[in-house]
Amino acid sequence: MGKSLHISKDLDINLEDLIGQCIAILGIRGSGKSNTAGVIFEELLENNYPLSIVDLEGEYFGLKEKYEVLVVGKGEGVEIEIDAHCAPEIAQVSMEQNVPVVLDLSGFLSEERTELLKAYLSALWNLAGTLRKPYMIGIEEAHEFIPQGVKNELKEMISRIALRGRKRGLGGIVVSQRSAKVDKDVLSQAGMLFLHRVVHEVDMRVYCELLPWRKSEVKEIIGSLDTGDCMYVNGDNILPIYVRERSTFHAGFTPSLETVKSPELRSVSASIIETIEKARVGKGPKSPTEQLEQRIEMMERMMGSKDQRIAELEDVARTLGYIKLEIPSFAKEVLAPGSLSEKEVRVSNSLPVVVADDSTVDITESVQVASLDEPELITALVQGVGNESDGTSCLLPPAVNQHIERLISRFSREEMLHRRVLAFLIEHSPGAYSAHQIAAWTSCPQELIDEDPPQGFLNSGLIQRERRTSGTLYRSALRTFVNREFRVFQPDIGDNGLHHVTRLLRDRLPMIA
Ligand SMILES: Nc1ncnc2c1ncn2[C@@H]1O[C@H](COP(=O)(O)OP(=O)(O)O)[C@@H](O)[C@H]1O
Ligand SMILES: [Mg+2]
Repeated sequence: MGKSLHISKDLDINLEDLIGQCIAILGIRGSGKSNTAGVIFEELLENNYPLSIVDLEGEYFGLKEKYEVLVVGKGEGVEIEIDAHCAPEIAQVSMEQNVPVVLDLSGFLSEERTELLKAYLSALWNLAGTLRKPYMIGIEEAHEFIPQGVKNELKEMISRIALRGRKRGLGGIVVSQRSAKVDKDVLSQAGMLFLHRVVHEVDMRVYCELLPWRKSEVKEIIGSLDTGDCMYVNGDNILPIYVRERSTFHAGFTPSLETVKSPELRSVSASIIETIEKARVGKGPKSPTEQLEQRIEMMERMMGSKDQRIAELEDVARTLGYIKLEIPSFAKEVLAPGSLSEKEVRVSNSLPVVVADDSTVDITESVQVASLDEPELITALVQGVGNESDGTSCLLPPAVNQHIERLISRFSREEMLHRRVLAFLIEHSPGAYSAHQIAAWTSCPQELIDEDPPQGFLNSGLIQRERRTSGTLYRSALRTFVNREFRVFQPDIGDNGLHHVTRLLRDRLPMIA
């Protein structure tokens, strides 16, 4: 008889059966999932089984009460603060030297968390490819990382571990209170399930697929489970069990009036801490200033990807939002300025939409595109004053105005120096100027412009860079930018409209400097 894990008085699991196994622990909040996961971790640690626990709420540092576990990340019980840069080193120490790790992610922003986890899991995956030894990865709140119906890099990585980790000895324990939100492919890989209580219909439906019973039976049996009770499912073997209580401190316990003593905690050996500290040198932050710089760098990257996302969404919004107005003639009167206060205003696709009171008139076909503080625009639209009228009286549709505002707000987030360069070039358009000339006019050091050119504006095409034999020249490319950026509106606002947008931006952009 091999080694076994003592989970409940009715259940011991053979340790061998856990190698490369995918285990799912499901149930509503407070049903005892983290306790069950904690018991499995304790039993694995008791048997020196190497593991990592991805801990979102700082619930697992208490394992150190009894076991030598390294707690890294950012949070209350963390021994070594780390970021994504040194995550691969931690993974390596953990897998190569059998050091159990709790990756406490409770103190990170979600983007930082994702970066760190990607770096960590990908290192574990690669190492497992060569070492091929038993290793377990526990993931709390798994629906956050492997949501059903969403595609991303991190999810793909976790799914890969669940689907193909067995050959490498990698097993996974996924814990989630949102059974219906966890990726079905991953759930279907789980050879072992601990099904705690659920109540919601959607979660019951998931359980119905996992249990070979009639729906009414599932509802009755699962609905009557108490904290710590669950259905243990392993193939055809289904067993109701009461999981033993964790023997180590459970930081995620439900508070009660009894005072709780903080536990005495063990630490991993000094040599391991030293190895990790060494690994951090050159990789991780060295001084608080460098840490801050690194954080700024990460934030800038995050903002970069957010800007990209905003740009994508703006494209969608522009297409969706630029809906042509068709107002039946009988509705014009109702929509006239002054009578607007009686109308319901709602926002759709981030565009203000005016819907006439049902009792007065049905204009479901006529999607309005103005806001209440633009009564003249409504008048113009209602009176059929076109956007293709001559350039001087050109009234831009709200979708265009909104796009202008979005661009201005996006550009306002660029660095101050870059905004000053932009302002200078726009004001001195169509001339082309060297960094030396710009520096002289904007009174900022030339080296700064040379070392840190206005990349954001260059990327967006608002500024053009020309390389000449005499050096690099910059010029404003506002007109080309507007023609491209507002192309979708051109059929409606015409060339005059585009010209008007260019003039507006020429006036407004220098003001953000
Ligand atoms: N088997 C058990 N025996 C005793 N107490 C338990 C048991 N399972 C859970 N508890 C207690 O119930 C509360 C909720 O459990 P927890 O595991 O944190 O739930 P979940 O992770 O599902 O939200 C905690 O205070 C925990 O200590
Ligand atoms: Mg929990």
